[in-house]
Amino acid sequence: MQHAVAYDDPAAVDAAVKDLRRLPPLVTSWEIERLRSLIAEAQEGKRFVLQGGDCAETLADCRSETITNKLKILLQMSLVLVHGVKKPVVRIGRFAGQYAKPRSSATETREVNGQKVTLPSYFGDLFNSAEFTAAARRPDPALMVRGYKHSALTLNFIRSLVDGGFADLHHPEYWDLSFFAHASLSPSLREEYQRMTANLADGLRFMEALGEKAVDDLTRVEFFTSHEGLSLDYESAQTRTVPRRAGHYNLSTHFPWIGERTRSLDGAHVEFFRGIRNPIGIKIGPKAAGDEVVALCERLNPGNESGRLALICRMGAANVAANLPRIVESVQKAGKKVLWMCDPMHGNQTTTSTGIKTRSFDAICSELEASCDVHKKLGTVLGGVHFELTGEDVTECVGGAAGVTEADLSTNYVSLCDPRLNYQQSLEMTFLLSRKLGRGN
Ligand code: PEP
Ligand code: CO
Repeated sequence: MQHAVAYDDPAAVDAAVKDLRRLPPLVTSWEIERLRSLIAEAQEGKRFVLQGGDCAETLADCRSETITNKLKILLQMSLVLVHGVKKPVVRIGRFAGQYAKPRSSATETREVNGQKVTLPSYFGDLFNSAEFTAAARRPDPALMVRGYKHSALTLNFIRSLVDGGFADLHHPEYWDLSFFAHASLSPSLREEYQRMTANLADGLRFMEALGEKAVDDLTRVEFFTSHEGLSLDYESAQTRTVPRRAGHYNLSTHFPWIGERTRSLDGAHVEFFRGIRNPIGIKIGPKAAGDEVVALCERLNPGNESGRLALICRMGAANVAANLPRIVESVQKAGKKVLWMCDPMHGNQTTTSTGIKTRSFDAICSELEASCDVHKKLGTVLGGVHFELTGEDVTECVGGAAGVTEADLSTNYVSLCDPRLNYQQSLEMTFLLSRKLGRGN
């Protein structure tokens, strides 16, 4: 199997899977069906999907503040987008289960006390731990159960926050917009951001004046969960039939996706995903061929049903113009129903001269803009975006008005995997995207 992690204790794998089968599901089939119908509407251009969160969640970061901050930035971004695209926004977190990471190499070598040491790579907290010791890096099946439990704790808190209504977060007056003041922002862009914020605040006040119901309807605070469905032991243990509905549901999350490295047509992941009813994402990189993507659509959605498939394209800013059009044209020509999404993060990774993995704000923005242009030209709809971000003040991606430079990266670089946009970069990126989409691309 592609990217299968080598456990050395099959009995422990069986025991973990047995536990997971017995434990209650994390989400329900009616929530999954609701998301399917929302994605179907996004395919028709009636809604816009915002998906975002950490590259890899960690068990250690299952904390109140981190979760609240993630929810807060996603909510704020969605309000800016509602304003820009003039459509309801569907919020999907990369959270409550984003614990499994595919790695380009199965092993990692480091120098420890003058000696080269090779250990299994860190595959995410669902499989092993990040610390560079043999004990930590040994894949441990019991971590699947811990991952499940931490997903449940995260989701429980998210549901409570959403039910309780975190109303003040609606209001731009309370947002941290200090990046507006930064010298690197051109006066015209600063003015535009300020105008957008003022309009947004006015709009929210107006809706509130109409009564709470109107605010609820337009900015309805509903969150869905998603993660990469990498561990088939884990995903299949939470996959079940439910009373009075046909088919199997993966009840570990609402919206699982297949990664760029595991989407081969005859691979185990496609075979597993074929059998579940959830709406699913497929990551599409610059090397994908048009007919290969059409074949994936056929295999994963033979009935060509609405709301089932999202193609999350992650080409890299420099590759969009050359590679995205042929994919879009092939899918369009074959008449396949899909939601087009753009992940402007995974094709834009670079390494600094001192070996730090980063992404540039400008490249991320430019991939988004180039993707909007391709869809506009071909008459298709860019119906969603996928970000790696955090609500914290990290320094992992360079650029943005707040001016994170390469030299700043070490100030607060926390991600164990890929670099994320920080709070201010995420908000600013959303203003730019909103402006682009608001102009009819
Ligand atoms: C990811 O989303 O973290 C990831 C690994 O993406 P991709 O499969 O697109 O490389
Ligand atoms: Co990532």
